[in-house]
Amino acid sequence: RVAQQIDLLIHNIGTLVTMKGKSGPRQGREMSEAASLQQGAVAIRGGIIAAIGTEADVRAEIGGAAIAAAYDAEGLLVTPGLVDPHTHLVHGGSRENELSLKLQGASYLDILAQGGGILSTVRATRRASEEELFHKAKRSLDTMLQFGVTTAEAKSGYGLTLEDEIKQLRVTQKLNEAHPVQLVSTFMGAHMVPEEYKGRADEYVQLVIQVMLPEVKRQGLAEFCDVFCEQGVFTVDQSQRVLEAAKALGFAVKIHADEIEPMGGAELAGELGCISAEHLLAASDTGLEAMQRAGVIAVCLPATSFNLRLKHHAHARRMIELGLAVAVSTDYNPGSSPTENIQLAMTLACLNLGMTPEEVLTAVTINAAHAIGRGDRVGSLEIGKQADIVIFNAPNLAYLPYHFGINHVHTVIKQGKIVVS
Ligand code: NIG
Ligand code: FE
Repeated sequence: RVAQQIDLLIHNIGTLVTMKGKSGPRQGREMSEAASLQQGAVAIRGGIIAAIGTEADVRAEIGGAAIAAAYDAEGLLVTPGLVDPHTHLVHGGSRENELSLKLQGASYLDILAQGGGILSTVRATRRASEEELFHKAKRSLDTMLQFGVTTAEAKSGYGLTLEDEIKQLRVTQKLNEAHPVQLVSTFMGAHMVPEEYKGRADEYVQLVIQVMLPEVKRQGLAEFCDVFCEQGVFTVDQSQRVLEAAKALGFAVKIHADEIEPMGGAELAGELGCISAEHLLAASDTGLEAMQRAGVIAVCLPATSFNLRLKHHAHARRMIELGLAVAVSTDYNPGSSPTENIQLAMTLACLNLGMTPEEVLTAVTINAAHAIGRGDRVGSLEIGKQADIVIFNAPNLAYLPYHFGINHVHTVIKQGKIVVS
């Protein structure tokens, strides 16, 4: 029995998808068990879920406790707040100029090799003041929240000098304090070799290892370290050096692996015990198996392969068959995925990756939360977890990816407070 006052009771929920029932990420076939019930209710106290289940059970459980506020969910679909586990949120400028190059047939790596791509965003980010970066990223974060995202990861990697990386990471820190969306910070100094180090990638790697990583750690500006392991960017060996140094300093590690060329990034992720590996379009079965054995979460980015006009996508079905935990993210960034719309990524995960609606929701809630080390607090609706909740203008789960390209959000609740309605 819940004796104390209830701050908010959400009642008259049509379909309540809780994702409860497992302490770790959901692997392989477990991803289809979304755990849902009809005619549900959620009782919230102090921003935390105090009771959840059928409305009859919740009302019995809270008994005579005073209910400060009640919210009628109008028979709609309710899910955990969505988690976007991979974004390049903070950056200067935009790259719509690349659209015509793409239409003429230039590939992502062609544009990058010509000094555009990431490098053009690096120039814009270096030029921007902390305030400018803050206001631009805040607008994106507002959009993410409107689409139902209540927790997100944000990477640096467009500064590529100590000062400019710190500038980006400080913006993430300030946004986390100023905005309802909770942010998890990742240092990605090894996102690209900056122009001034052209042809001297090893020297730049040394700068990341000896100067940037220790200073980011000292200032407590990031929890994770990520690296872009790709042809023409960082080799497997360089990536390994960065991530091993990061681990030695106490960072948990991530890797952009085997996106375009099969480099052995997935194998490295397994070997290092990364918390997650991202992209993975070209990952080998051996690599995926190594990830599975080490419990590395596969973060698939279907909006990126769509936007890069790639002929193939991440092999999510194979990953699920091999027993991996799959997460899905927007990869929001100004080049390969200029969208904050996680619902679009969910549709693309269904249509282009072959994931079912249950698997997709698992991928953007509990598995995404585990991919950024927040699985104990968010990603599922269970007693004791944060009351991060989305009410969707949808009659059931399949309706979300089915009716695509629009925003289905009706209401967003973050830590018990209504932040979008
Ligand atoms: O995840 N692949 C590397 N980084 C980003 C793209 C960054 C950019 O193009 O600005 C990604 O796709
Ligand atoms: Fe990325």
